[in-house]
Amino acid sequence: MNHPKESPAVTGGAPAAAGQGAARQADQAARIEAPDYVQHGGLIEWVASIAALTKPDRIHWADGSQAEYDRLCAEMVAAGAMRKLNPTKRPNSYIAWSDPTDVARVEDRTFICCEREEDAGPTNNWVEPGEMRATLNGLFDGCMRGRTMYVIPFSMGPMGSYIAHVGVEISDSPYVVVSMRTMTRMGRAVYDVIGEDGHFVPCVHSVGKPLAPGEKDVAWPCSPTKYIVHYPESREIWSYGSGYGGNALLGKKCFALRIASNMGRQEVLSGGIGWLAEHMLILAVTTPEGKKYHVAAAFPSACGKTNFAMLIPPAGFEGWSVKTIGDDIAWIKPHTDGRLYAINPEAGFFGVAPGTSAKTNPNCLESLKENAIFTNVALTDDGDVWWEGLSEAPAHLIDWQGREWTPEIAKANPVNGKPRPAAHPNSRFTVAAAQCPSIDENWDSVDGVPIDAFIFGGRRSTTVPLVTQARDWEEGVYMAATMGSETTAAQAGATGIVRRDPFAMLPFCGYNMAEYFAHWLDLGHRLQVGGAKLPAIFCVNWFRTDENGKFVWPGFGENMRVLAWMLGRLEGKAGGVEHVFGVTPRYEDIHWKGLEFSRAAYERITSIEKAAWQRELELHAELFAQLAHGLPKALERVKGRLAERLAA
Ligand code: OXD
Ligand code: MN
Repeated sequence: MNHPKESPAVTGGAPAAAGQGAARQADQAARIEAPDYVQHGGLIEWVASIAALTKPDRIHWADGSQAEYDRLCAEMVAAGAMRKLNPTKRPNSYIAWSDPTDVARVEDRTFICCEREEDAGPTNNWVEPGEMRATLNGLFDGCMRGRTMYVIPFSMGPMGSYIAHVGVEISDSPYVVVSMRTMTRMGRAVYDVIGEDGHFVPCVHSVGKPLAPGEKDVAWPCSPTKYIVHYPESREIWSYGSGYGGNALLGKKCFALRIASNMGRQEVLSGGIGWLAEHMLILAVTTPEGKKYHVAAAFPSACGKTNFAMLIPPAGFEGWSVKTIGDDIAWIKPHTDGRLYAINPEAGFFGVAPGTSAKTNPNCLESLKENAIFTNVALTDDGDVWWEGLSEAPAHLIDWQGREWTPEIAKANPVNGKPRPAAHPNSRFTVAAAQCPSIDENWDSVDGVPIDAFIFGGRRSTTVPLVTQARDWEEGVYMAATMGSETTAAQAGATGIVRRDPFAMLPFCGYNMAEYFAHWLDLGHRLQVGGAKLPAIFCVNWFRTDENGKFVWPGFGENMRVLAWMLGRLEGKAGGVEHVFGVTPRYEDIHWKGLEFSRAAYERITSIEKAAWQRELELHAELFAQLAHGLPKALERVKGRLAERLAA
């Protein structure tokens, strides 16, 4: 294999012909040519500088076309990196199996490298930027040898939206290119948005596995050394060593949450009103009277977020409609009318496969009928996919590590006391949002949708009622800030431990969490001063259990009953009872048609136990002690009020 030192070969949608004057030459160590539709000198220089550092064999400027997608998939199939699924079962779809050591986000290798450690705060890993740059320069030096470097332009949010932003990811992984095409608005139209000098977030990604001359590649190249690094001040992302999900598709958690949360707050520091980048799904709900509402909801992982985003109203809710706008991330900005508007910055779903079925989430399953990439699920004998929870287990499969799998083999090789799963518990599907049957007509609107309510939820077997409305914005921010979730059997370590996950943003807030609380409080305050009606804030908990540890609330589509109560509150129609934590519906305030659910069961999931709440407030105090630096006084005040109510 040849390793040109100065001039890697270049391909792209329409490479500029030499001598036409459109070819760009960067004044860098490497000379580089860009397609003639790339007019941004700074971008070309940056690409040249990364090529000079990483020393790829080739550079490909991704144009985002279907032909390019098909070609890259075909190349990966030929190289053994993916398999094409049976086209009669699952047209134009693929299965990929990762290296068994590269299966999830690596939170302990994720860094926020701002100048001052206190700006990253106690919930983030921090390294001084100069030190980190020195480490990464060493790792990235020559890391793309023997590979193609792809330049991937993408927009987070509908192109041209005042809420959207552009990024460009450089990656040496074709899997990343095709995944980014589904997960973002990726392709040459992005260059029209940034023109000659528009802002973009530079994202550099390498799997960290250079190839020596003649070395054969492996199916899933990656490195045991991993770094997922964010420089908030210069708005850069550098990711090394992993090809998986949020570690490698840098538009998602890295840009749309960690960097964007910084950008939203930074706007305030430079005199603007600011905005929010949140770990939230977005839903549109239309009542039988034809009134349309939009809610944004934050849940930590393993709390049924995708199911809630694609909820189907149950029996008894004829005439209601629920539509999906996003399943994971919301960017939210005040508009000139003083209301908060949200877009889904993503264009696809990168969802957890296990547990997804025609029963739990028919809309999701329908979305996955074609044009999907499945990662780390099992392969059936007829060339389709399978995962735990999809259906009854087939008699024979090839598991996510390429091994023979039968129910007997699974039982004979238990993992954590359970039969060895055929699909990895964090196996994923990647599919375009537009394929979802419940996608809302405005999901791609440049204006976004006005948010009427925020919902925050965790997984709690006790203490927290099914649903509670905050009495005001401050109390709502307090609820979100103190939100917690119990660890489940799927996670390593003891189960049932409550881990605080403020706003479901613990691994995703790109700056000091206490200042993030302040940003929420201040934004609400500024909007209110401007005369705006703020969205209502609710806290939900679908997961209270009975004495046998079984969930009492049926969940899934039945969560519609809770949603309907919330909308009733917005319309001033639904009743409720006030308690220490806020306002919760009485049994008679819920629409029960179509569901048998006893008063006693309802009492079980809505009761407020004084001792449990005393303990809960102690845990809130522990969290606040951890986040003391910069913690807004308003939160201490709310806590004081809750304690007083509890004592009364
Ligand atoms: C995700 C997550 O993958 O939250 O969306 O971990
Ligand atoms: Mn998520």
